[in-house]
Amino acid sequence: MLNFAGHNVTPAGTVVMEPKLLLVDDDEQVLKSLKRMLRGRDYEIIAVTSAAEALELARRHDIGVVISDQMMPEMDGVTFLERLGRISPDTVKLMLTGYASFQNALDAINRCHVFEYLQKPWTAEGLSQALERAFRHWRLVVENKRLNAITQEQNDALKRLNAELEKRVRSRTRQLAEAVREGVLMLAQAAEAKDDDTGGHVLRIKRLTTAIALELGLDYEEAERIGFFSMMHDVGKIHVPDRILQKKGPLTPEEWKIMQSHTLAGEKILGTTSFYATARKIARSHHEKMDGSGYPDGLKGDRIPFEARIVAVADVYDALGHERPYKPAWPRQKVLTEMRRLSGWHLDPEIVSAWFEVLRRGEQLHGS
Ligand SMILES: [Fe+2]
Repeated sequence: MLNFAGHNVTPAGTVVMEPKLLLVDDDEQVLKSLKRMLRGRDYEIIAVTSAAEALELARRHDIGVVISDQMMPEMDGVTFLERLGRISPDTVKLMLTGYASFQNALDAINRCHVFEYLQKPWTAEGLSQALERAFRHWRLVVENKRLNAITQEQNDALKRLNAELEKRVRSRTRQLAEAVREGVLMLAQAAEAKDDDTGGHVLRIKRLTTAIALELGLDYEEAERIGFFSMMHDVGKIHVPDRILQKKGPLTPEEWKIMQSHTLAGEKILGTTSFYATARKIARSHHEKMDGSGYPDGLKGDRIPFEARIVAVADVYDALGHERPYKPAWPRQKVLTEMRRLSGWHLDPEIVSAWFEVLRRGEQLHGS
């Protein structure tokens, strides 16, 4: 099958370049002689006596090799080959002339990148060998171009594939992150439901912990992460019997011991993966106190994990201000006084200051 440029096209659509030799000489005898000599070669021969006609032909056909005369009346060979190079950059250019001079040869090489410079009269063998080299070079150039095009096409396809994959990975990552968030929230609220059926405590702790962490100068991502894991601080309450969690009066020493065990139980529920490492620290240490009188380890000051000290402030504040089975919600002024009293020996004073700042800003925002 031939396409518009006269190339063979395989059934698979690959264009096969047919080799063409273009002869340009104003002397018809020279052209005849050349054609006679090159008869029966495996390339098509096109011969023209005008450089203008040759340029026109080059616009419509892919010319593999051109042999041009230098001295032609309308246009010299160097100018012709220079123009041809702009129309058909892959064509291999040979110059055949009877007026060889050093300047001509230099022009031919520098201005139009002539592949070989041949002199009249030629020998059949010399010309044949020159043409063989020229067509070999042309095939290499064409093949190189074809391979580059295939590589480019494959690279483009790979880029498209990568972009599609990245899109899918992003979407799947979002779905997974959403599923983890939902799962954590459900588990945290299930544990919390035993002493707060609204589940609101968990979400309030998350918001407050995040806000305090931001106030303390942590970046947004880190603050969000601590806030997220703060939701699991009381997950160990799943193991504490309702009769203890919901007891109206004071707990017996035995019941108190069981109540305190929710810290270690929470740490255990949160497994061993590194993903939940912060959640485990918070679950275990959110009831530690700065003076070492807390539980379960009696840690002091900076020995208490930072994240757990933040959650302790948010947790105490929320517990004071809201109703619990064993106590009513405290009035606001009483809560503030109590927070000031706890600052230093129970709660980290720097974190309590940050919490006051968060509170002040929230009140400004709501105009109260
Ligand atoms: Fe707790």
